[in-house]
Amino acid sequence: MSTTVIILAAGKGTRMRSSLPKVLQPLAGRPLLGHVIATAKKLNANNIITIYGHGGALVQQAFAAEQIDWVEQAEQLGTGHAVQMTLPVLKNEGMSLILSGDVPCVTQDTLQRLLDASQETGIGLVTLTLPDASGYGRIVRDNGAIQAIVEHKDASDEQRQIKEINTGIYCVSNAKLHEWLPKLSNDNAQCEYYLTDIVAMALADGMTVASVEPTLAFEVEGVNDRVQLAALEREFQAFQAKSLMQQGVHLIDPSRFDLRGDLTVGKDVRIDINVIIEGDVTLGDNVEIGAGCVIKNTTIAAGTKVQPYSVFENAVVGENVQIGPFARLRPGAKLANEVHIGNFVEVKNSSVGVGSKANHFTYLGDAEIGAGSNIGAGTITCNYDGANKFKTVIGDAAFIGSNSSLVAPVTIGNGATVGAGSVITRDVADHSLAFERSKQLVKENYPRPQKVKK
Ligand code: UD1
Ligand code: CA
Repeated sequence: MSTTVIILAAGKGTRMRSSLPKVLQPLAGRPLLGHVIATAKKLNANNIITIYGHGGALVQQAFAAEQIDWVEQAEQLGTGHAVQMTLPVLKNEGMSLILSGDVPCVTQDTLQRLLDASQETGIGLVTLTLPDASGYGRIVRDNGAIQAIVEHKDASDEQRQIKEINTGIYCVSNAKLHEWLPKLSNDNAQCEYYLTDIVAMALADGMTVASVEPTLAFEVEGVNDRVQLAALEREFQAFQAKSLMQQGVHLIDPSRFDLRGDLTVGKDVRIDINVIIEGDVTLGDNVEIGAGCVIKNTTIAAGTKVQPYSVFENAVVGENVQIGPFARLRPGAKLANEVHIGNFVEVKNSSVGVGSKANHFTYLGDAEIGAGSNIGAGTITCNYDGANKFKTVIGDAAFIGSNSSLVAPVTIGNGATVGAGSVITRDVADHSLAFERSKQLVKENYPRPQKVKK
């Protein structure tokens, strides 16, 4: 059977007080709508139709790489009116899952159960029982069977006592959508075309309405303002942290861990507090991440230990490497196994060979460093002449004395030594020593200046 996913995303989101359309606001680093689209893709939907309105061009741009059909709802006349806009492109056979772009956390599992339950009846919804249901559409049942959804504003006092709510997530036969949607009216308290009225139409056609509950309550929470966005962020983070712990990750404090993307982990990974993981990150077996690290689009292989407050972006790190504290790996940093990168060392677009060390206050930019070399404290690869970038090549087992400037393009050979404090502008051959400094002057018995008495 073919499945279409229809995503309602035309609402303005006035309460966000933002110039960014609501469905582009980020949750865990990804736009709200991006979460819904990702879930739709997991369900192997045959097609995804997104209904846009406010900020349409921006929304479409943000998802230009996705295979999505876009349908415009120029005027927001209600949820039923929004789905009506899809009719010209909606297939006649199969079922549609109808989701909201601002309800980002609904899971594949809940939607799959909704699809299964709705297969037989032709219509189903996700409902939830809340202690305080005010504001929501209420589920009216008779002998357990769903009779109607009544919007809060249209509900009687008695109906307002009902705690079971409509979450706004539906699964409906496409043939029935084609039949029912043109018949909706806006004769209600909000003068809107309510999608919820299709429940009554299903009953009139002698159908029963299936319902499922979400696996977790936060799945169906919507985002209307920044307070709700922040609250949902914490719930989503707690959910992700729990799933990582179930996979065997040792999170020292799950409430002080943030994942904004996808984290792939080996065994016995240990993550200290206040770590932020962004984009695609892979951590191998026994990797340890110290407090306060920010790691983006990076792979770190087994046994590597990262000390606190180190920052990574688009880096590749080998096995049993030691990094930090306060190290910065920028895009293109590639560390082989057993490398040591210490405090206040910055590595950009550079490869560091097996077992090489740069332990203190160093900048390695556009450099290629062999195995077993030692880069002394305060070494700088001067890769930029103010206009162009050049490369520094350092061989195997080289020793760069402290506080040296290697002015690129320059090559330091295998086993070569650079004396401390040198400005190296010419290549240094294998196994030779190069240094560049003025002769040390000495004045014996030097009389220091004395303070003048007034
Ligand atoms: C809707 C349901 C209500 C349910 C609640 C759950 C109706 C009539 N009511 O109410 O039963 O309890 O959701 O949150 O459906 N949208 C459009 N175009 C429109 C109107 C809305 O795209 O013309 C989109 C919004 O951007 C949003 C979604 O539809 O993503 C829901 O709209 P919203 O106004 O939040 O629905 P409610 O009135 O709260
Ligand atoms: Ca509304």
